[in-house]
Amino acid sequence: MTYIEAVDLRKTYTPKGAAPVHALDGLNLVVPQGTVTALLGPNGAGKTTTVKVLTTLIRPDSGTATINGIDVISSPERIRPMIGVSGQYAAVDENLTGFENLDMVGRLYHLSAKQSRERARELIRLFDLTEAQNRPVKGFSGGMRRRIDLAGALVMRPPVLFLDEPTTGLDPRSRIGMWDIITTLVGEGTTVLLTTQYLEEADQLADSISVIDDGKVIAEGTSDELKASIGGQRVEVSLVSLDDSTAAREILTRFGSTEPAVSLDGRGLTVNAEDAPAALQLILTEFANRGIQLYDAGMRRPTLDDVFLKLTGHTASVDGADNTDTDTSAQTQKAQK
Ligand SMILES: Nc1ncnc2c1ncn2[C@@H]1O[C@H](COP(=O)(O)OP(=O)(O)OP(=O)(O)O)[C@@H](O)[C@H]1O
Ligand SMILES: [Mg+2]
Repeated sequence: MTYIEAVDLRKTYTPKGAAPVHALDGLNLVVPQGTVTALLGPNGAGKTTTVKVLTTLIRPDSGTATINGIDVISSPERIRPMIGVSGQYAAVDENLTGFENLDMVGRLYHLSAKQSRERARELIRLFDLTEAQNRPVKGFSGGMRRRIDLAGALVMRPPVLFLDEPTTGLDPRSRIGMWDIITTLVGEGTTVLLTTQYLEEADQLADSISVIDDGKVIAEGTSDELKASIGGQRVEVSLVSLDDSTAAREILTRFGSTEPAVSLDGRGLTVNAEDAPAALQLILTEFANRGIQLYDAGMRRPTLDDVFLKLTGHTASVDGADNTDTDTSAQTQKAQK
């Protein structure tokens, strides 16, 4: 059974005195029950707008959206009890303590005082917030805020969860902690739509990835499918001397399946190859025969950054959050254009 479905969603903002912005431009999405779908896209792609439509916070100009068959736009009051939302900007009361925030959510949803306190205590334990539970949220770190915000979304054990950039701004340890929690929830049957700018996060968590740009889905599939769609693996070499670059280029062209991409400094060359181990061996033998010295040589599978670059012509990592390897390869390919 499909849980979340969006068909041809459109939303245009027309700020005063500025050109209209097509925040959603025909967005389609399906999230099957008990799975995680990641909406992966750069700043301004339309991720938060999508989440706002699906969580009944804004109405689209056109298109339809259903959760478990119920129309999000015409029956928002039937949708709200089914969903939990953890926003890009944590929605917590700064003056209340961690515990009080969670207890308040339970009371707002009409749990009894006893049930509400019990659930708050459970979540405090689950999210490792015991030390922070009696401190006002205004003294919380970014990571603690994220956790208390997600905990708030879980008070009523919603079967469908929307997480808008759940780990942006978290340190690596807190990020992994958040991934564990999300994985546990999905293991218990929760359906999750999460948005992220982190390729690695989509790779780790998502059963299916929808890559979005300019308000529409430009590719979808599993992480492996997306990587496979750009063809084979990469063989990379790094030259000791720039004098060898013409010869190196000729060799890579011969054994690879694409024109070599050259890094900005001219020393790094990369080609695609269907059978990368075989290609790498042939390339290294040829380099040895010609006396061309290398700093480094290797192969790697394409990253999701490569996928994004291929689809959009620009890289997805906008804030340097991804590792430098992928950034370098993005530059490599841009430089080639
Ligand atoms: N209330 C609004 N008024 C005007 N423009 C808006 C409004 N909300 C969003 N937009 C525009 O719509 C586009 C999509 O915004 P959205 O917040 O959905 O992007 P996003 O993918 O969540 O980006 P980010 O990664 O920065 O959170 C952007 O160009 C944004 O400026
Ligand atoms: Mg956003």
